[in-house]
Amino acid sequence: MGLFFHSNAAGTRLGWACTSVLLGLLIAAGAGSRFSPEGASKNGYGKTRGVVADAGMVVSAHPQASRIGAQVLSRGGNAIDAMVATHAALAVAYPIAGNLGGGGFMIHRREDGMLFSLDFREKAPMAAHKDMYLDAKGRVIPGASTVGHRSVGVPGSVMGLWEAHRRFGFLEWSVCWEGAVALAREGFPITEQQAFELNRQQAVFDGLNPGNRYLRADHAADGLWRAGDTLRQADLARTLSLIKDQGPGGFYAGPTADALLAEMQRGGGLITKADLEAYQAVWRKPIVIPYDSFTLASMGPPSSGGVALGQLLRLSEPWPLHTWGHNSSRTVHHLAEAERRVYADRARYLGDPDYVDVPVEELMEPAYADFRRKDIAYGQAMPFDRVSAGLEAFRKADAVRPNTSGNTGTERPVQNAVPTESEETTHYSIVDAYGNAVSVTTTLNGRYGSKVFVSGAGFALNNEMDDFVAKPGVPNQFGLLGDTANAIEPGKRMLSSMTPTIVEKNGQLYAVIGSPGGSKIITAVFQTFLNLTEYGMTMQEAVSAPRFHHQHVPDSIRIEEGALADSTMDALRAKGHHLYTSSTMGRVDAILVLPDGRLEGGADPRGDDQAVGVYRNAGQAQP
Ligand code: DON
Repeated sequence: MGLFFHSNAAGTRLGWACTSVLLGLLIAAGAGSRFSPEGASKNGYGKTRGVVADAGMVVSAHPQASRIGAQVLSRGGNAIDAMVATHAALAVAYPIAGNLGGGGFMIHRREDGMLFSLDFREKAPMAAHKDMYLDAKGRVIPGASTVGHRSVGVPGSVMGLWEAHRRFGFLEWSVCWEGAVALAREGFPITEQQAFELNRQQAVFDGLNPGNRYLRADHAADGLWRAGDTLRQADLARTLSLIKDQGPGGFYAGPTADALLAEMQRGGGLITKADLEAYQAVWRKPIVIPYDSFTLASMGPPSSGGVALGQLLRLSEPWPLHTWGHNSSRTVHHLAEAERRVYADRARYLGDPDYVDVPVEELMEPAYADFRRKDIAYGQAMPFDRVSAGLEAFRKADAVRPNTSGNTGTERPVQNAVPTESEETTHYSIVDAYGNAVSVTTTLNGRYGSKVFVSGAGFALNNEMDDFVAKPGVPNQFGLLGDTANAIEPGKRMLSSMTPTIVEKNGQLYAVIGSPGGSKIITAVFQTFLNLTEYGMTMQEAVSAPRFHHQHVPDSIRIEEGALADSTMDALRAKGHHLYTSSTMGRVDAILVLPDGRLEGGADPRGDDQAVGVYRNAGQAQP
């Protein structure tokens, strides 16, 4: 079948309607196997493909959400319609991170090549202030910015979906919400990972939500969830129906807003009616990064993701990574050194561009990368206290310090804490039959966010306020540091690491990539891109391949368990690197456009993630 309407611009209604009878769905598991370190160091890549489809693909953290998004594509929806449906379904099927009460970022590449980025990040309530998480002695109050009502930022997700759909959607808004409403009402079988997470959060939920039996295993005599149990969410179904019927008015006004504000009153939260009414999603200029024959489009401030990814690519561009080998000691050493410099810059310069001047172009200048690369030595790791933000020295370089990279030491003492493990943001990637692509990363921040549920409305509220700097020199839950650029101010957006990314090759759509993982998001996306382009991996291989991460502080390379050969670890230690292993890092859900135009979904085997393809002929055998 030929998609004769292919030449229409995205969102052009003529032609879309024809698709519903022509496209069929074939659902296939998208999880691949993990790599062994031995496999990672050999040239056996390019063989194991994920799900391949010819008329659309949705890859997300939960099979139900991918299925619902793909169904919208098969009904004639475009990638933006599928974005709304997938996001709404994740709020039901993956409530640990999928959300109505959070926020996120979208990169969109329209089939005609136009790029767009949408910021629907949460905002600080107008009553927030710089020192709101400090005690009388100026110390950070443990947990104040991470748990409970005062950790909540003004949610952005529903407005973000509305704004994206208003501009680019094809199907009716309400149609995009049908799947999620049904899923919440009728329920779905939870996975083993979900049962485990729900059981271990129960005591915290109960403490923060007295009398609210949300997400309780009331059907079980022992009160515990088991894999395969059905999770039904009647309150959430009602809220979703309000949004379905009323748009953002079903969330930012009316019964949902009333319930949210009552919740704020109950727990001493700061969000007011005026905060909800004022919330707007913002179209921003995407960060565009040329790299060899590729062009990457990613998210600019208030996310640090695009700028940091751009810096990492500029720094690593001259290095023969392919020759050095995937996850070899030489590669890991160089990339870790690049990462520690980039995270030092992140901490100093990045913040909400509506409040601070962020030197975006300067940070990604090739000359700045050349300058920062100067003191990366093959034989020796640079101790963390000798690495600092580099732009001031770069600006003075010719006159003052021609032979250094700007690293003069950290500006202030820092707590070198090991960050908590958390993968609970979520990313979904979508491509439709016409080549429209959407890359969305969205979050409540921590697992179930603040762990406060809006009583009667059935959804969790974020704890995004922790992404601000509570106090310079004190790391947040991801171990990230920051300064005045990311200080709390009323109405400001907190700095993010989310890195939804779309890649072109020679001007054509090539890949859609993104991940959760807090501070590790940026390096997960970076490595996935390198896996494709430097190491010839398939999408599934690139997603599954083991990852590592450095973020300046703590002064260590964090490595997925079993990711590196013992000899590689020894070689890194000999250079002075500190290493520690971590269970898993990130959950990359991504799509690659194959040379023949078909789409390969890469679903991360670290989670329950799944790719669902859409096919021109239903029942067509999967290649
Ligand atoms: O915006 C950010 O960077 C964080 N709030 C993301 C949190 C996250 O990824 C949690 N775990 N995966």
